[in-house]
Amino acid sequence: MPPLHPMLPEPTADQCAHSERLCALVAQQIDAAGGWIPFDRYMQLVLYAPGLGYYVAGATKLGDASTGGDFVTAPEISPLFAQALATQVAQVFEQTPAHIVEFGAGSGRLARDLLHALQKRGTPCERYAIVEVSAELQQRQRVVLANRPVEWLTAPPTGFRGVMLANEVLDVMPVRLFIKRDRDVLERGVGHGRSGIRYVDRMAAQDLSVAVSEIEAEAGELPDGYASEVGFEARAWMRSTADWLAQGMLLVIDYGFPRREYYLAQRLMGTLMCHYRQHAHADPFWLPGLNDLTAHVDFSAMAEAAQEAGLQVLGYTSQAHFLLNCGLLDRLQEDHTPMRSSAAHRLISEAEMGELFKVLAVGRNIAAMPVGFAHGDRSARL
Ligand SMILES: C[S@@+](CC[C@H](N)C(=O)[O-])C[C@H]1O[C@@H](n2cnc3c(N)ncnc32)[C@H](O)[C@@H]1O
Repeated sequence: MPPLHPMLPEPTADQCAHSERLCALVAQQIDAAGGWIPFDRYMQLVLYAPGLGYYVAGATKLGDASTGGDFVTAPEISPLFAQALATQVAQVFEQTPAHIVEFGAGSGRLARDLLHALQKRGTPCERYAIVEVSAELQQRQRVVLANRPVEWLTAPPTGFRGVMLANEVLDVMPVRLFIKRDRDVLERGVGHGRSGIRYVDRMAAQDLSVAVSEIEAEAGELPDGYASEVGFEARAWMRSTADWLAQGMLLVIDYGFPRREYYLAQRLMGTLMCHYRQHAHADPFWLPGLNDLTAHVDFSAMAEAAQEAGLQVLGYTSQAHFLLNCGLLDRLQEDHTPMRSSAAHRLISEAEMGELFKVLAVGRNIAAMPVGFAHGDRSARL
């Protein structure tokens, strides 16, 4: 068993055995690839390897410490999040069919609360579809959403008209890592040896060096020893959304920054982060399969990918601005309890989710200025 981090709750023997099986699979894949795999392959395996990966096996994942969860997302904090989001969704529904596709629906709470909020405001959703890569989470969603008009798709729809949602989905898409050494760009991948699974650096492949040159052209030269990540998979996903969305809006909500802030020289170790029972740590090789692995989102890259593929940027702002623009405080006033008030604080406070989390809206064939970006739109910073 790997050494325990003294601050982290101890896993059970079964959990350790599960993680060891995943490590064996990773080692096998590294050997099959000649001794080295890029970090995105590693991240793919530890999060999504069938039957073993964090998102597809039995880990509790979402929820607070009392439920054994590793992290809490906005929809898990309070229905207030969905109630505010409903304002933006209802505005799009004025111009499109009342259809929603949600990517990566987690526990299913956002779907449940959004359907309820839209019904309550008199703008009911007629079709709600979920695209979920995890069969295990899909099963949980089916329980939470029993008797509601929700369907699960095996692939994103094409020619879709309506609203697409992705809350905290892009941050769990595998990333490639790089490190600057003596002005060279090295790719930080994964190998294994007697000390277990570990980082192994080699000269970066062409696509990664080009991506780093583009970052440096905008953010300035990165210092020696600077390590960070590039989200090629998230970029490809954003490009694909243009094939799926014929009319309407895609709302991407996640933690991240525009490129110039993301690749600040002071952010020397990038944003790769692991989550285990409400603790954040930076060791992706500690108990793989029991930890969530995430990286922040480069929102400039997301906006560019969407635009290159033919979508328009409709707005970009902080979660706090978006939720306030969407009437979060009015929703709070309608039912003001200490619990809802404290949830509103978590959602919009700068010290909590309000500023780190951003909302990017892209779309096509939508006329009105989106209500969620009426004040504090930061599209020009992307
Ligand atoms: C951090 S959880 C967020 C869950 C939920 N959206 C929330 O906010 O509570 C990430 C979710 O995205 C799913 N996921 C990851 N990659 C995906 C993809 N390419 N398409 C659809 N779902 C994906 C995961 O299985 C999981 O449900």
